[in-house]
Amino acid sequence: MSCQSAGSSTATRAVLFAARKAHGRPARTGRPCTLADKAKVAIFISGRGSNMAALLYASQLPEAAYEVVLVAANDPSADGLQLAAAEGVHTFALSHQGMPRADHEAAMEKAARQAGADYIILAGYMRILTDRFVKRWQERMLNIHPSLLPKYPGLDTHQRAIDAGDSHGGVSVHLVTPDLDAGEVLGQMKVAIREGETAESLAERVRYAEHQLYPRILGDYVSRESDPSFLLERVRKLALALPQTHERESHGAPGWRAGSEKSGKYFAYFNDQHHGSDHVALLVKTSGMDELLNLVEAQPHAYFKPAYYGASGWIGLILNRPNLDWEHVGEWLERSWRSIAPKSVTRLMNVAEEF
Ligand code: GAR
Repeated sequence: MSCQSAGSSTATRAVLFAARKAHGRPARTGRPCTLADKAKVAIFISGRGSNMAALLYASQLPEAAYEVVLVAANDPSADGLQLAAAEGVHTFALSHQGMPRADHEAAMEKAARQAGADYIILAGYMRILTDRFVKRWQERMLNIHPSLLPKYPGLDTHQRAIDAGDSHGGVSVHLVTPDLDAGEVLGQMKVAIREGETAESLAERVRYAEHQLYPRILGDYVSRESDPSFLLERVRKLALALPQTHERESHGAPGWRAGSEKSGKYFAYFNDQHHGSDHVALLVKTSGMDELLNLVEAQPHAYFKPAYYGASGWIGLILNRPNLDWEHVGEWLERSWRSIAPKSVTRLMNVAEEF
């Protein structure tokens, strides 16, 4: 499952890879992505769709990490629709006029889901989305905004940068959250403001920058779910958030123990493509062989029986797969922790949970 995308193998100096910096990711050496590995994205547009076009053509590069499964617009006359259709991409158009906001976005969402989208990518989509919609796509919806956020959220970004006497305008790609243009910034690119610059001339050059930035950041972002160091970091955070836990290597792999440094016991191990397996996985304790085998049989995309550990009831949760539910991973960790944590500590946790 894990593969090496073209988008994530090199870091551009001009781009501030906030996400990369946060996760300190090393270069990867996996096999190239195949179509089955690729994240499926639906792109929402309202007009010209030049960013959509940049994303679409970048997705046709041999090692792209994503494929475009749908281009959808709230304006049936949006130019970008024709371009997408000409390239053989499925399109959907529905005017928002005369429709309640929630009904319109529900129809857009239905089209995205029917196309099999894992992500929604806003590219010049000029509609405000409801909080409920945004929450449903939390961490799975990106937007491009023509300013160096947090400067100038909203409209008229170029004129505001010029009026403020800024030396640079620019562009940001960010996660979408209920607050307008306020989600985590995944990457930015600066564009110099020249003497006599107008909003139009700046907008044009910012668009060149946008077309470079968006495909790169999207490729990097969707590759995270198969990136062992990103997955390890998330697991580590969840495991160490449980009371009285610490990390200790076991046979060269990170593991987490509950109890004291001296007498603690392991409740989880991290497995990166162990014993020739293609999985990046978290090993946790089940109640026994019956549960383990039932889960593996019923959900082979999510669970497997690991070498050696499987014999004593440890199950492998496959982490490098699309749409992984991190809350569920957290629940498994807690359950496994409870099964071996000192009773004095689990009792305290139970009491705390009652309040
Ligand atoms: C782009 O400049 C994008 O940053 C901006 O709309 C333009 C769409 O152009 N988005 C926003 O202002 C969102 N608040 P395009 O249709 O040619 O991609």
